[in-house]
Order: sequence, then structure tokens, then C-alpha cells
Amino acid sequence: MPLHATPAAPLPFLDPDLPLPQRVAEWKALSSRYPFREEYVLKEMLAQREGVAVENIVLGNGCDEILALAAAAHLGAGAELVATEPTYFQITDYAEKLGATVRWVPFTRTMHHDLPAMAAAVGPKTKLVYVCNPDNPSGTMRPATRFGSLA
Ligand SMILES: Cc1ncc(COP(=O)(O)O)c(C=O)c1O
Repeated sequence: MPLHATPAAPLPFLDPDLPLPQRVAEWKALSSRYPFREEYVLKEMLAQREGVAVENIVLGNGCDEILALAAAAHLGAGAELVATEPTYFQITDYAEKLGATVRWVPFTRTMHHDLPAMAAAVGPKTKLVYVCNPDNPSGTMRPATRFGSLA
């Protein structure tokens, strides 16, 4: 556990037994501080809920930051990203700017991700498969259980 995450005082704004106005006030009092400990506690809570290790949880200031980090970590010249066409543009833009190739997979006729086609598009150069769910701009979504076939 990182030093800054060492348990010390509790985090009252996470206490579900406190009235909401008090939780908001507690959070406001801390909001001008670096949230190192809060970040760690939130990661622990998410890891427990999702049944994964804390190291598998990444937090960001919005989704775009996470997409940029994923692209920077995995994509570059010679690498491939598999994505549905159309989809939320951010990571496909990053991929192209980094010199990676986007392997576009068209929607199904109902504008859902074509998961078998996406799986078939994965090749030896594939570093990331981007499944935006719910998708933008289609607005369609699939239950998380449907993605097991891609893993
Ligand atoms: C599918 C999708 N992902 C991510 C974003 C960006 O999210 P954030 O503001 O959290 O970076 C948007 C914004 O429209 C979006 O539609």
C-alpha cells in the first residue's frame, strides 16, 4: 500500500449513515487538497465491487484522460486498434495521431457492436479493442455479460 494511502482518519463523506448535507460539507472541506488517500480508498471500493485487484483500477479526470492513457500505453506505429464504425472518436483519433492503424468494424443492422466481427478483426498487431458501451453516436448498448466472448 502506498504511504499516502495509510489508513488514518476515516473519510466521513463516504459514510452512508451520515445525512447527505453533512457528507457534502465533509467533502467540500477536503476538496482543495490533493486526493491521494481518497483516490486509494475509491480504488479499493471499486476493486472490491468489480472483483479485481486495486492495481487494475485506473481513475482519471473524465473518460478522455483514460482513453489517452490507454492509447499512449499501447498504441504506436505498427500497432492496431479494433473499433466499431462509427464510435466515439477520441481513442481512434489518438490511435491515428500515434501512427497506429484503426481496424474499423461496421455496426450490425440494428446499430449494435458486431462482437463476432470485432473478435475476427483481432490480429497479431492488435493492442486494444475499443468497445464504447453505451455507444456514441448510436446510443445502443449491450449488457456487460455479452462481452465475455471478446476476452
Ligand atoms: C462515449 C463517450 N466517452 C467519453 C466521453 C468524454 O467523457 P469525459 O467528459 O468524461 O472525458 C464522451 C463525451 O461525449 C462520450 O460520448
